[in-house]
Amino acid sequence: MSFPFPVAHDVPLILAPMAGVSESPFRRLCRRYGADVVVTEFLSAEGIRRENQATLSKLRFGADERTIGVQIFGAEPDAMREAAALVTDVFQPEYIDINFGCPVKKVVRRNGGSGCLKDLSLVQEVIRAVIAGTRLPVTVKIRSGWSEEMRDPVKIGLYCQAAGARALAIHPRTRTQMYTGSANWSEIARVKEALEIPVIGNGDIKTAHDALRMRRETGCDGVMIARGSFGQPWIFNQARALLEGRELPPVPGVEERFAIALEHARMVEEYELDPDGAAIEFRKHLGWYVKGLPNSADLRKRLHAVNSFGEVEGIFGDYLRWREESAEVHAATGESEQPALEPAEA
Ligand SMILES: Cc1cc2nc3c(=O)[nH]c(=O)nc-3n(C[C@H](O)[C@H](O)[C@H](O)COP(=O)(O)O)c2cc1C
Repeated sequence: MSFPFPVAHDVPLILAPMAGVSESPFRRLCRRYGADVVVTEFLSAEGIRRENQATLSKLRFGADERTIGVQIFGAEPDAMREAAALVTDVFQPEYIDINFGCPVKKVVRRNGGSGCLKDLSLVQEVIRAVIAGTRLPVTVKIRSGWSEEMRDPVKIGLYCQAAGARALAIHPRTRTQMYTGSANWSEIARVKEALEIPVIGNGDIKTAHDALRMRRETGCDGVMIARGSFGQPWIFNQARALLEGRELPPVPGVEERFAIALEHARMVEEYELDPDGAAIEFRKHLGWYVKGLPNSADLRKRLHAVNSFGEVEGIFGDYLRWREESAEVHAATGESEQPALEPAEA
């Protein structure tokens, strides 16, 4: 299946758009660890067209992030067209993605995100408007419908395709479900069966094995990972290995995990305009990186209280020293080794 943007593999692995998470430094990290494509967090078309500085600053990205899609949302076709034109001229990503999936009240109240799914003619109008504003390929990301009663992912997919969407990512939950229940992968399979454009599966991939399973069970053309990348950007390399029939690369050990977290922190510090505010925002990533480490309650508590990036290395150092000392005690007393790392959960 040919994608409307450059991909290095037949079945591309895509870092999902995530507000507050899929920001430039994390996107770069995920590209290094095997994501073929990354997408910005959703950005308001109104914010872009009014040249709101906070919105525009989220559009900055480096060459090492390409292939990159910029995701925009809004239910006002003119605003969407103008936003697409500005993004194309100024930022030149490989493609523009339209968010028809966001379930958040503030967004759907104005029919943005999954709010559009209540009215498929509006969905088409928005897609056509964005296409009119850009020379870049336009893709969409949808949920399975607004509510259980309106659940009809195949129909939504066909409408998007007919309006000119060049690829479609589906998170098979309804808006009403938010994040409850489980993603209905059989809907990905049905949409894939019905559409001619590439279909990207998304939802509930927590491990590399899940990525392989989604591909096998649904036949999707690409696999998109959101929460499964939290604290484990290497999930992309692992998933690639499994998709290619290779053995699963091992999960990085503690020292390596800390080194990756510190590298991520350094990238954020360089990128963000307000490093202290960014350090507070970064606490969540720190929590994700240490999830599942033995005896990490104190570590987590300290990381969740950092106010600057400078504190992080010392906290990691304390944990590594504690770990070494307790290994020595165990060796001296003949007690068993420390427990093995549990797999990090999303
Ligand atoms: C913190 C967070 C922020 C998200 N922000 C966006 C967004 O900006 N645009 C979007 O299309 N989806 C967004 N999503 C939805 C994800 O892209 C994805 O569809 C959903 O999390 C299901 O995939 P997963 O099970 O792999 O997490 C967000 C999800 C999370 C957890």
